Amino acid sequence: MTGKDIDRFNFKVPTLRNVELTYPYFHDGAANTLAESVTIMDRLQLGRKFSPDENARIVAFLKTLTGDQPSFTLPILPPSADSTPRPTPFAKN
Ligand code: HEM
Repeated sequence: MTGKDIDRFNFKVPTLRNVELTYPYFHDGAANTLAESVTIMDRLQLGRKFSPDENARIVAFLKTLTGDQPSFTLPILPPSADSTPRPTPFAKN
């Protein structure tokens, strides 16, 4: 986003609430299953390797975080015209 080397590989840590329902995982959707994402987290964030049983237990725990999905009303925005300023998400600073 910023184009600066110092900001590479920094990600917002997503909430794990309802994570069972929010696949695919990670900022780029690289992991399709919770088991796969836990394997990646073990290695990259904790520097260890869980056994298949430990992995399954963590996945079982993550599934206990499933509950009602929040519902909300979308705001009504004014219509945009050709002259409406557009966002520039990848602008260099
Ligand atoms: C056993 C321990 C851990 C488990 C089970 C776990 C689980 C997960 C899962 C399931 C996701 C994907 C969430 C999603 O995409 O909605 C995730 C993402 C992430 N976790 Fe962990 N995590 C663990 C440890 C850690 C630790 C220790 C850190 C940091 C010190 C960490 C930092 C992150 C970050 C930065 C992301 C987002 C990465 C991205 O979007 O590419 N996690 N974690």
